[in-house]
Amino acid sequence: MRGSKLAAILLIATTSVYANVNEELQKMLNANQRLDVDVLYEQWLKEFDGVRPSKRLDARGVNQFRKGIFNSKVMNIISHNLDKTKTFKKGLNQLSDLTAEEVYRYYNLKAQAEQVCSATSSAAKDLSQALKSTPEAYDWREHNGVTPVKDQGQCGSCWTFSTVGAVEAHYLIKYHQFRNLSEQQLVDCAQNFDNHGCNGGLPSHAFEYIKDNGGLSTEQNYPYHGVDQTCNIPSGTQVVGVVGGSVNLTTSEDDLKVAIYEHGPVSIAFQVVDDFMDYHSGVYASQVCGNGPMDVNHAVLAVGYGTEKVSGVDIDYWIVKNSWSASWGDQGFFKIQRGVNMCGLNNCNSYPQDVLNLSSAKEFLQ
Ligand SMILES: *[C@@H]1O[C@H](CO)[C@@H](O)[C@H](O)[C@H]1NC(C)=O
Ligand SMILES: *[C@@H]1O[C@H](CO)[C@@H](O)[C@H](O)[C@H]1NC(C)=O
Ligand SMILES: *[C@@H]1O[C@H](CO)[C@@H](O)[C@H](O)[C@H]1NC(C)=O
Repeated sequence: MRGSKLAAILLIATTSVYANVNEELQKMLNANQRLDVDVLYEQWLKEFDGVRPSKRLDARGVNQFRKGIFNSKVMNIISHNLDKTKTFKKGLNQLSDLTAEEVYRYYNLKAQAEQVCSATSSAAKDLSQALKSTPEAYDWREHNGVTPVKDQGQCGSCWTFSTVGAVEAHYLIKYHQFRNLSEQQLVDCAQNFDNHGCNGGLPSHAFEYIKDNGGLSTEQNYPYHGVDQTCNIPSGTQVVGVVGGSVNLTTSEDDLKVAIYEHGPVSIAFQVVDDFMDYHSGVYASQVCGNGPMDVNHAVLAVGYGTEKVSGVDIDYWIVKNSWSASWGDQGFFKIQRGVNMCGLNNCNSYPQDVLNLSSAKEFLQ
């Protein structure tokens, strides 16, 4: 009896290589064993040792304080996942021994009051025609249109990962080739476009920077360090351009749907609140996040959309690529409720117009 009840609250059934400790937790709940948090903690330490921020934050290594946070996260995850009104599951990840305040500080997640997204001030378009030829579900991951998930680390550079993720995706869609492009260039060099390195910025401004400054260098030539440095682009390495700069979307989520299907992944921003940090699967929805342009604090990349049945009810969602490594969430991705401006996600949406292989353009011009 009890076992079958617990079976209904499984974290997730997944074969993901990142889900070992979550599978262990699931197994304990399944088998109705005593929950052994010490065993889980040891396993979590092993699995996330290479990526957990606490390793860098704590000079003195593993300690009781961290273990205490971990224990309370486990309890929170179990009670969240037992709650049938929730549309998403929580799980353990590399952030599971940090307080929420530490996570906000680590990723520098703060509302960017000085950068109100005016992305949406243009007049509403008539989308009825476009919507008719837009499928009900589309996922660019299934159409070779999404490049690998990266890790922004301890720096408020989400906007550079959203931007580069979009440019890489549009390049991949156009040329069927993955170019690993440079976030660090944007961190160091895009200040004149009202961006602030590890203190935040906007993808729309970054697309304009790329357009006006000779394109993006590669990860290899301008590698990511996750700190503010002096701008220093090795000459001849800016190989991908954004000829048309930024296309800003309106606040209509239909506009976002059409743009994703017709053009490719779109940079979006929303507000991260505490309960997002432990997201594991399902459709994220929150009652406590804000939804105004001043509330958004995290830029990410929308790569698709669809609809899922949760407790017998259809919920529309966006599929989103995050920049907290593939260890976080659903292999680095999450789904978030679509159509209700969840956490302000309709305020700040843009994509790069006319991504171009500059090396071949240069050859052509010579
Ligand atoms: C796009 O939006 C940004 C703010 O997010 C704004 O600075 C920029 O001027 C807009 N660009 C266009 C082409 O409307
Ligand atoms: C792309 O660059 C990132 C650095 O952000 C690196 O971690 C990753 O391994 C690179 N990917 C490939 C396929 O080279
Ligand atoms: C981009 O241009 C360079 C130089 O012509 C070429 O080597 C490369 O294959 C091109 N990439 C694609 C995807 O067309």
